[in-house]
Amino acid sequence: MWFYVAALLGFFFLLRWYRDKQVLRNLTEKYVFITGCDSGFGNLLARQLDSRGLRVLGACLTQEGAEKLKGATSERLQTTLLDVRSTESVAKATEWVKNCVGEKGLWGLVNNAGISFPCAPNEWLTKEDFKKIIDINLLGMIDVTIHMLPLLRRAKGRIVNVSSIMGRMAFFGGGYCPSKYGVEAFSDSLRLEMATFGVKVCIIEPGYFRTAVTNEKLVHDSFNNSWVRLPQEVKKAYGESFFQRMIQGATDMQSKCSPNLSLVTNCMEHALTAVHPRTRYSAGSDAKYFFIPLSYMPTWMYDLVFGGAYRIKEQHA
Ligand SMILES: NC(=O)c1ccc[n+]([C@@H]2O[C@H](COP(=O)([O-])OP(=O)(O)OC[C@H]3O[C@@H](n4cnc5c(N)ncnc54)[C@H](OP(=O)(O)O)[C@@H]3O)[C@@H](O)[C@H]2O)c1
Repeated sequence: MWFYVAALLGFFFLLRWYRDKQVLRNLTEKYVFITGCDSGFGNLLARQLDSRGLRVLGACLTQEGAEKLKGATSERLQTTLLDVRSTESVAKATEWVKNCVGEKGLWGLVNNAGISFPCAPNEWLTKEDFKKIIDINLLGMIDVTIHMLPLLRRAKGRIVNVSSIMGRMAFFGGGYCPSKYGVEAFSDSLRLEMATFGVKVCIIEPGYFRTAVTNEKLVHDSFNNSWVRLPQEVKKAYGESFFQRMIQGATDMQSKCSPNLSLVTNCMEHALTAVHPRTRYSAGSDAKYFFIPLSYMPTWMYDLVFGGAYRIKEQHA
């Protein structure tokens, strides 16, 4: 009996490997628009797709970022400025993309731009702190997508939305996790709506990677900024030692961040170039072997794993 189970499993993985390996033709004629190309995954993906001969349209937040990207890539790659918080900026970038792609339409849209700060325990933050992140990670992504849909429909193209393992489980406060849960929900409903037009929607769920989003100093600054402005009563309830534990936790997290960003950009590349893209890609061994399996477990198990970090050890109040 075990022989048949093993043979069936072997056949399944062989079939999956064969499907995954099939690549689209005419890649050099395909246009891909990527948001947040100044740094991190977006920047690496722009350079990676450019070296494969695709026509990359890289959107950067800053002029400096755009110039650096242009200097590091071929003549084919074009850049524009985009701030996803502003609908005016999104509309301008859409007109620019429309002129670039012409009748062909847009093959790929990679919604990558994102931020992770301010982050801290929820009670230490304000509504404005939550808004700041959700405005970029979720509402900005929705705005860009809605503007680009007619161009994507024309090419029967692909939308690649960058979520996170934090789109499946939330174990720290602030707007980041809610924004990524929103990305998952938006992407799921969009996938159902777009299937009839031949447009595919893929979700990327990376674990921890070493970029500005996970930068130790920025995490420390974020904790510090929210801590110093807290009313005395709240500070007393948590206590200085809890605050120091949060800071230490951020430092410990650094050693868990992978420096290999191509684990993520390879998933994005597959979503854009494979004949059979997957609906969801998990990137990084922490995502694949720890966070994603844990997200399917009962809630008490999740609380057991993450709850300890938030336990107040001394009574302050
Ligand atoms: N690093 C991780 O561990 C991790 C894990 C899961 C998911 N992610 C997601 O991956 C995506 C890329 O992040 P990353 O890790 O590569 O960090 P990153 O290097 O900071 O990249 C984010 C990019 O978005 C840009 N950006 C920020 N605000 C923007 C705005 N208002 N409009 C347009 N662009 C804006 C940034 O520009 P500037 O550089 O000029 O600020 C930067 O180029 C994000 O959606 C993030 O949530 C990251």
